[in-house]
Amino acid sequence: MPVKGRIVWIAGPAVKADGMMGARMYEVVRVGKEGLVGEVIKLTGDVAFIQVYENTSGLSPGEPVEGTGAPLSVTLGPGMIGSVYDGIQRPLDRIAERVGPFVRRGVNVPPVPQEKKWRFVPTVKRGEEVEPGTVIGEVQETPLVATKIMVPPDGPRGEVEEVAPEGEYAVDEVVAEVRTKDGVEKVRMAHEWPVRTPRPFKRRLDPVVPLITGQRVLDVLFPMAKGGTGCIPGAFGTGKTVTLHQLAKWSDAKVILHIGCGERGNEEAEVLTEFPHLKDPYTGRPLMERTVLIANTSNMPVAAREASIYTGATIAEFYRDMGYDVLLVADSTSRWAEALREISGRLEEMPAEEGYPSYLASRLAEFYERAGRVEVLGRPERVGSMTLVGAVSPPGGDFTEPVTTHTLRFVRTFWALDPNLAYTRHYPAINWMMSYSGYVETVKDWWGKSVSADWYELRAYIYRLLRREEELLELVRLLGPESLADEEKLILDVGRMIREGFLQQSAFDEVDSYCSSRKQYALMRLFVTFHRNAEEVLRKGVPLIKIRQLPIISRIVRAKAEFRNDDVEKIEALEQEVRAAISALKPEILA
Ligand SMILES: Nc1ncnc2c1ncn2[C@@H]1O[C@H](COP(=O)(O)OP(=O)(O)O)[C@@H](O)[C@H]1O
Ligand SMILES: [Mg+2]
Repeated sequence: MPVKGRIVWIAGPAVKADGMMGARMYEVVRVGKEGLVGEVIKLTGDVAFIQVYENTSGLSPGEPVEGTGAPLSVTLGPGMIGSVYDGIQRPLDRIAERVGPFVRRGVNVPPVPQEKKWRFVPTVKRGEEVEPGTVIGEVQETPLVATKIMVPPDGPRGEVEEVAPEGEYAVDEVVAEVRTKDGVEKVRMAHEWPVRTPRPFKRRLDPVVPLITGQRVLDVLFPMAKGGTGCIPGAFGTGKTVTLHQLAKWSDAKVILHIGCGERGNEEAEVLTEFPHLKDPYTGRPLMERTVLIANTSNMPVAAREASIYTGATIAEFYRDMGYDVLLVADSTSRWAEALREISGRLEEMPAEEGYPSYLASRLAEFYERAGRVEVLGRPERVGSMTLVGAVSPPGGDFTEPVTTHTLRFVRTFWALDPNLAYTRHYPAINWMMSYSGYVETVKDWWGKSVSADWYELRAYIYRLLRREEELLELVRLLGPESLADEEKLILDVGRMIREGFLQQSAFDEVDSYCSSRKQYALMRLFVTFHRNAEEVLRKGVPLIKIRQLPIISRIVRAKAEFRNDDVEKIEALEQEVRAAISALKPEILA
């Protein structure tokens, strides 16, 4: 029997109901006459505190509250790719088709189309042993993603008694029956999973494969690993959203989850209008064929922000379980934290720093812990990964505030956005002195094997040069430019070239928006070759002025946007020209 209670108190997204004896923590309840979706977040005696995922205006005390007996769950199966969901997996696109552009409260549209038939191709035979996670068949959901139909993580273990022949099936149709020691269990095309429970896997693997984002400052200086964690904090307007969009567009992941959490609706609208026109650089197919969007904008109920984060993570884990690399980006985790703060305040919990609840840190930790590169359950053996990147919006850009400081404890990559760089239009405005990545050492072998043996050495060269430039700029500020030796002045010259010609990368430049790993490497060599050779002739007595006058310098700086990803030989040819131009310079004494 479902629990039946009554509303006694309403404060924004929080509702108190009595008569709720028997309700469970995190149980989903239907609130009020309209049956708004809510979740029990605190229980004292027969009083339940409920956070409501829909607008509560007009709700009044005395209205009914009914338990569902189930935790907040998502439906996982074919039909999710290309969808636009709200925080509790209601398909905004299909709701709009049915009831117009405004989501009516209490509306109930299934997360994946129920009627649609998918071509199921079985991959197991009668009599075969299966277990949770085992792939029993496949649906080519889009040209980019084959959705594996798996025995759910809490599903049966045993012998296949019956498996559906290749054919067209809807999501709730049974495609296999498994004989277990207790009887026969059915496996359907789709299954449900509670969003607050991480989906299990066999074991964690080291994060040794980089996530190639096509953004040079990230991939070269502060790399992300598949299955890794990262955050991108920055003041308003420094480039959080643009950077996450770049990651969502270009990263070499199989499936992308983009969560718009509590940000302004127009930014989300940009995603919705822009993404459908974008093409995947690896296949040329529309990006939406590998993307799921979750939109929970600032005008939508705050409680659903938290749900959007968990919904996104669970959908992402589902594709990870297929053995795919998944990237989830969340813009912005600060809005989620603010929702926690608001609800905690309504419940009159004891606040910790800046009014945030004391469990803020553990919530953030639990979220980022769901990332990982793992050996997944079931057969065949496969490896999947879920990479998590969250934007953080510290008020006033102050990185010492609680959401930023706690997040930094739990992520291994920190991309610090710098308002001064953004102000001078150095984009992406990632500060290379403050940022760090804990994956440089773990991914270096991959780069060494897949791109070039000296990748690590060149990367270190560039990083060192930029740090040296920073020290020298400080000296110049204190003592003036005359205090520097020519070799040091050369470092300032090359530092500027690297900043303009390598670190800066416009998201809006047709050629430069995405830079392949080979092109990144070729450009790195170009700058390093210039510096090494220039330094050498400088030592032999060539005046600095002659090096500075080389016309090839501006061609080096422009190379990033001049040469396309498939023109890497042209960058190599330019490198040869650089060698020739520098070695043609004659020392003063001989001139
Ligand atoms: N990589 C980039 N390339 C070009 N322009 C950028 C880049 N990153 C940020 N910008 C510029 O900065 C503006 C603000 O960026 P946005 O991502 O909206 O900031 P935030 O989300 O941090 O408030 C963008 O509209 C764009 O003009
Ligand atoms: Mg933004």
